[in-house]
Order: sequence, then structure tokens, then C-alpha cells
Amino acid sequence: MPSSPLEISPDEFAELAGRVSAEVVRHLHGLDSAPIRPATTGAESMALFAGPAPEQGLGAAALDELSEVARHSRVGNGRFFGYVMGSGEPVAALGDFFASVLNQNATAWRSGPATAVIERSLIGWLTDALGCPGFSGTLTSGGSLANLMGLAMAREAKAPANETGRPTGVVYASSEVHMSVGKAVALLGLGRENLRLIPPDAAMRLDPGALRHAISADRAAGRTPIAVVANAGTIVTGAIDPLAAIVEVARAEDLWVHVDGAYGAPAAMVAPELFHGLGDVDSLSLDAHKWLYQPLDCSALLYRDPDAAQRAFSLTDDYAASLSADPVEGQVFFEETLELSRRVRALKLWLSLRYHGLEAFRDSIADNMRQARRLAALVDAEPTLERLAEVPLSAVCFRWVGGDPATLDVVNAAMLDRINRRGRVYLSNATVRGHFVLRACITNHRTTDADIVAVIGEVLRAAPPTGTRPSSS
Ligand SMILES: Cc1ncc(COP(=O)(O)O)c(C=O)c1O
Repeated sequence: MPSSPLEISPDEFAELAGRVSAEVVRHLHGLDSAPIRPATTGAESMALFAGPAPEQGLGAAALDELSEVARHSRVGNGRFFGYVMGSGEPVAALGDFFASVLNQNATAWRSGPATAVIERSLIGWLTDALGCPGFSGTLTSGGSLANLMGLAMAREAKAPANETGRPTGVVYASSEVHMSVGKAVALLGLGRENLRLIPPDAAMRLDPGALRHAISADRAAGRTPIAVVANAGTIVTGAIDPLAAIVEVARAEDLWVHVDGAYGAPAAMVAPELFHGLGDVDSLSLDAHKWLYQPLDCSALLYRDPDAAQRAFSLTDDYAASLSADPVEGQVFFEETLELSRRVRALKLWLSLRYHGLEAFRDSIADNMRQARRLAALVDAEPTLERLAEVPLSAVCFRWVGGDPATLDVVNAAMLDRINRRGRVYLSNATVRGHFVLRACITNHRTTDADIVAVIGEVLRAAPPTGTRPSSS
């Protein structure tokens, strides 16, 4: 029988893998010298990459374009400070490669025995390292899905059905909470108007007194409070809500506590005193593809009560039901998560942790926190710069204030464009206390102290001569 036209021999595969590997190594060697934002336009990238599908295969020549893909990609060197972006630890990338070739379905032990056990064991490593021993959980695609799943569990556990059988309830968070929480509340059918956004305190944290007050007001109006989302590292400033006090309010009011730790939770491995109460919450999201430096995608939803996950997600057709009573062989992940077919996300993090060890991760996170404090001190020492928020984790929000106060938002926005176009450092923007700010978030194991100093140099270089607007060059 003729073999499939898609078949390639293991030797041919080895040759292709060698070429890809050489390309990757070239990319890693060039990380420091390439501009962070590639000097390309939308039209140029369309011309290069949006051609028609080939009717006939190109064979090994198909790989030729990979160097162009790399050349037109954003670079993850130590001076990329935008958003909350992990650095793509390369040993983990090898785990991803291996996982794709093995192509296991991480949905049950029977579909991938080794990788199912690795995922379970990895969750145990994470929960122990975070100070949440005994928690269970699963890996997910990202913090958005983890937040959705955490709130789905909350809804199942706490929301009563109304007269038409639909669950109802109010969810509380500080107004600094990530947009994915609003999306989750809407998708879960609770209604966007039932996400109560509470103005934060001066340190951008949810105030437990204000939370208690909002809950009472809703009860008085006949509504049913069901959950509070506490931040363990807000997206903009990294603020950590007072978790223990929030848990106390929630327990008194019978609410579910979900913690959005997508960004900040890994810092609990380094500074547990900032996360007091974390081990008492109901569910917690953590993005390994942020501050555990993993390549996208790799996130986790962790929770105290595995039965609560089953109640939210177990709805199994006969064809899929596990027929094994063995505690390991009968394991099915799809009864605890939203996904059925699942890529093996565990292998990269497992390999990365085994290669480097937990201590190396703790050291890198601690380094990033120290670098953020250093950047904050450099900003504070510069008369034309103003810091707009405290720095509990690794995000620093500041702006240039050397000109007319009425135009500072516009001037800082223009500066950001100039900084990022120059490509030596990459910052993102945010709004803090109503002002446009430049934001540097350090979640990168490659960042050095010299990279931190470079931020100040690049920002001042992009500033207009005091009292004027920047030119367009
Ligand atoms: C605090 C916080 N929560 C949730 C998310 C969403 O995570 P993801 O982009 O992995 O869906 C982010 C992303 O930046 C975040 O910073």
C-alpha cells in the first residue's frame, strides 16, 4: 500500500528538526542586538506572510521562511517590559516540542498515562511552593480561562437559581481587577451589572470595610452576594489585596473567594508575607506563562475542594466515561475543567522546573522584584519623572512631568511611541489615578540591572526639551 503523502521518515524529520533548532539558536544568539519591536509595517508583514496556500508542497524549502518569521517577531530580551509577558524559558520550549511530537491528549490517564501523572504531580509542586498545600487543580490555557473556571465553581457552589431556574448573584472586586473577570461574570450569565467594582484604597487594594459595606447594601436591596475576586497582583500596579481580611469577610457572609493571581501568585514563593491568607481561599489562578517564565500557554486553576470542580464541570457522555476504578488509571481531567481535548501543558513546566530547580525560579522572581524597586528608586531620583503607584511586586508606573501639566497625557503617549519605535526597551501604557502612565513590568529572567538603568536613559531621551512637545522624528 502506498504510504500517505503526509508521511515523512524519522530521518527526514531529524534533518528538519536540526534546521529548526539551528534557526532557534540563531534567534537566541541575536536576542540582545535585535530591536525589540521589529522594524516592519503591517503592509510588509502581509506581503511576506499572507500568500495563498500552496497546492503542491514545498518540502524542506517550507522552512526557509522561518528566519523571516523570526526577523518579523517581537524579541523577548531582558528589556521587554510591556504588559505581563513571560520570557519563554527555552528548556520549557523543548518540553513543548516533545509534547507536540508525543501528541498525547491530556484529558485522562488512559489518553496519556505519563503526562497525566506529571500534571497531577506538577500541581502538587506548585501548590506546595505557593503555600497552598492540599489544593488540587488543573492546567489551563491562560488566566482568563482560569478566572472563568474559578467563577464557574463559585456560581455552582453559591448562586441560587431564580424563578426561571437561572443562577443569580453578585460578584465583588476592586475596580483594579482584570477585564477577564468582567468577561467571566458576563459569560456565566450573571450579568455584567452584577460585578460590583469597588474603588480601591490609596495603595490600589480592595478595602475589606468597603467590601462589607457593598455586600450589606446588596443584601438590603434583595440581591444575593456569591463571590469576591481578590487580586494577588493587579494587572496595572501589582497591588495585592489583603487576602486574610477578605477571606474573613467572605466566610462571615458565605461567599466564595477566588484569587486572581495570574500575574502575582508566583511571588508567594518568595515573599509569603505579602500573601497572608492565600492558603485559605477557595480558588486561585496562576499564569506560569507570566512570572514562571514559561512559553505560552501555561496557566493553572488551583482550588481547595476537588468536589466543587466536579460539581461545576462534570457532565460526561457515556462514550467518554472512565470504566476504571483504579485511583490513577481512572483519572479524567475533563470532569474538572472546561476543556475536553487538552494539549500537554505540563511537560514544559515540569522539564523547566526539573532542569533549573525551584530555587532558581525563586531567585529569578526575587531578582525581578529587586530590579523593580531599583527602577522605582531611579524614577524617584529623577526630577522630571513622577511615580504614580507603590511597587509591591514588579510593575512600575510613572510619567514624565517636565512640561505643561495640561498636556502631560498627550506628551507621555508620544514619548511611549518614540521609546518603543527606537526598540532599545519596550514599555506599555496604563491609566493610574486618571493619568496616562508609562509602565514597566519585570517578569523576565533575562533582565539585568543594566537593562533597568537603560529604561531611565531611554525615557529621558524620548522626553521633549522641558516645557515643549516632542517632535515627530
Ligand atoms: C491579573 C491578570 N489576570 C488575568 C489575566 C489574563 O490572563 P491571560 O492573558 O493568560 O488570559 C492577566 C493578563 O495579563 C492578568 O495580568
